[in-house]
Amino acid sequence: MKATILTPQVQRVGRTSMSSVVNSSIGTPSSSAASADRPGTLWQAMKNVVKRMLPETTRRRIYDKRWGPRRHPALGRVRFGSFRQLEPIDRHFGMQWGQCIDRYYIESFLAEHEADVCGRVLEVSDSVYTRRFGRDRVTQPDILHVTPGHPRATVTADLTSADHLPSDTYDCIILTQTLQFIYNVPAAIQTLYRILKPGGVLLATFHGTSKIARYDMDRWGEYWRFTTLSARKLFTEAFPESTVAVRSYGNVLVAIAFLEGLVAAELRREELDYCDPDYEVLVAVRAVKPRQDIQ
Ligand SMILES: C[S@@+](CC[C@H](N)C(=O)[O-])C[C@H]1O[C@@H](n2cnc3c(N)ncnc32)[C@H](O)[C@@H]1O
Repeated sequence: MKATILTPQVQRVGRTSMSSVVNSSIGTPSSSAASADRPGTLWQAMKNVVKRMLPETTRRRIYDKRWGPRRHPALGRVRFGSFRQLEPIDRHFGMQWGQCIDRYYIESFLAEHEADVCGRVLEVSDSVYTRRFGRDRVTQPDILHVTPGHPRATVTADLTSADHLPSDTYDCIILTQTLQFIYNVPAAIQTLYRILKPGGVLLATFHGTSKIARYDMDRWGEYWRFTTLSARKLFTEAFPESTVAVRSYGNVLVAIAFLEGLVAAELRREELDYCDPDYEVLVAVRAVKPRQDIQ
């Protein structure tokens, strides 16, 4: 029911069809749940007929009893405002306008774990976060890039096949917004585990909900969106379960704002910080390689 209103299919077909989709969804949760239980039964058909005959107020009462009070406005009363257009407000995450919404979360995650950023630190593509969050605790910053000859890189490697990288090397790896661009995620995580020193910490973030990052898509490819569940499963295949902490950031308002390319400053702090686990905009993982390899 919740998702029905904003599906791409609905956006494509426009207002008339949208009313019909929303309309048909009024009784949908109960009917779809029931039809999943008893597909095609006479009981189901009768229920549907009776439901259609009931006045709207009674249908609502039944719905509320089963699904909790609806906050859905009356049909046709949603005010779309600036969002009623097929082009996003900004196609480039709003990066020309201020802090991107995902960066607000990435940076609060790194700030929370800044004590981990110390010693020899590896970061992907640049060392902005190593310097900002590690400051003078960092003894050697390294920059990894997948493309050979990249001017900033001190390490060139495809994380899915990086046998040339020495094991047990890094105290901290900052892997922000990278895993979604790697097809073979388990292989990359195995490498990250291997090159961390015992006791070393991996700080990783990736999108749960996002538009395509076109720049990256056209270079190395963008393959994945993650959930806290898939992240936990992927990381605990390499790291011991007790050392993996996974969390999400975001809520429905943030998800919409982020997809539209609005920036963090356009939302209130309490709106950004409200976490609804059904709307995972950004997923973050802190994983520690144990001091004694128990694999
Ligand atoms: C958006 S950047 C992320 C790094 C940046 N520090 C950040 O916070 O956004 C995506 C990076 O993924 C890297 N990448 C893509 N495929 C890779 C692979 N197979 N192995 C290692 N890095 C890869 C690219 O080098 C690129 O710099």
